[in-house]
Amino acid sequence: MSPSHSRRTRAGVAGAAVLAAAVGGAIGAVASATSSTDPAAASAAPVVTVTAQPPETVAEVTAPDVEAAEVDSTVTATAHPSVDDPDSLWVVVNKTRPLDPVEYVPGDLVRVDGVPGGSAQRMRAVAAAALVDMYEAASDDGAGFSVSTAYRSYGFQSSLFAQYAARRGADLAETFSARPGYSEHQTGLGADVYASVECRIKRCFAAEAAGSWIAEHGWEFGFIVRYPEGANDITGYVYEPWHVRYVGEELAAQMHEDGTETLEDALGLPAAPDYE
Ligand code: DAL
Ligand code: ZN
Repeated sequence: MSPSHSRRTRAGVAGAAVLAAAVGGAIGAVASATSSTDPAAASAAPVVTVTAQPPETVAEVTAPDVEAAEVDSTVTATAHPSVDDPDSLWVVVNKTRPLDPVEYVPGDLVRVDGVPGGSAQRMRAVAAAALVDMYEAASDDGAGFSVSTAYRSYGFQSSLFAQYAARRGADLAETFSARPGYSEHQTGLGADVYASVECRIKRCFAAEAAGSWIAEHGWEFGFIVRYPEGANDITGYVYEPWHVRYVGEELAAQMHEDGTETLEDALGLPAAPDYE
């Protein structure tokens, strides 16, 4: 464990167990993962030059002016985040769960300064800080990475999906790219990262130092690999070892502890192999 890594705090097992009880009690069982053969698109992953959007003015987020006595600490301590609210760290966006509102824009986007490529990208503040922490720890272990794209607006995703569909055909594009309003990138909690040009947005990223490091340690920083291998019947997408999603340290630790790979399974939501 690197010195910087050991400095970090992360959710303990006890806290995660409490969380699991809250989640498990609220939601029922779901379908299990089934393996499938990834189409050629997965290994010959699309390489589309994505021009980063110029960062807009970073929103200043201030805490609401609430007297301490007004805060119900019991509710705050026991409630778990919504899977529907786009502002929630646990929001689940997939082919059956578009963002609501569909043109949602996070209110606390900041530049991902501190990670190569990150100055031209934005994420929600908590996710950006966690990605920087993760990058520093990975770099200390010789597994540094760069950011490709992080937050994508509805309009940006619309252009990107159209570009993929034109180049690869709509059916193939659907297996690796979300329609506008259905992309986790629009939450400001997801990012695509890469280490080499050769394996940028390709499966071979998984075998690179950064890819294997993130798969092993991402949870310690609150990240999951959102589209795991062989889970496209649940997530709706082929394996994307480069796409990380911030869910917070507690949930990421719980998923690691349980060996639960998909957000749908972890939160008791139905599989989303296709659009409804
Ligand atoms: N590649 C993921 C599924 C997206 O387009 O959001
Ligand atoms: Zn992605």
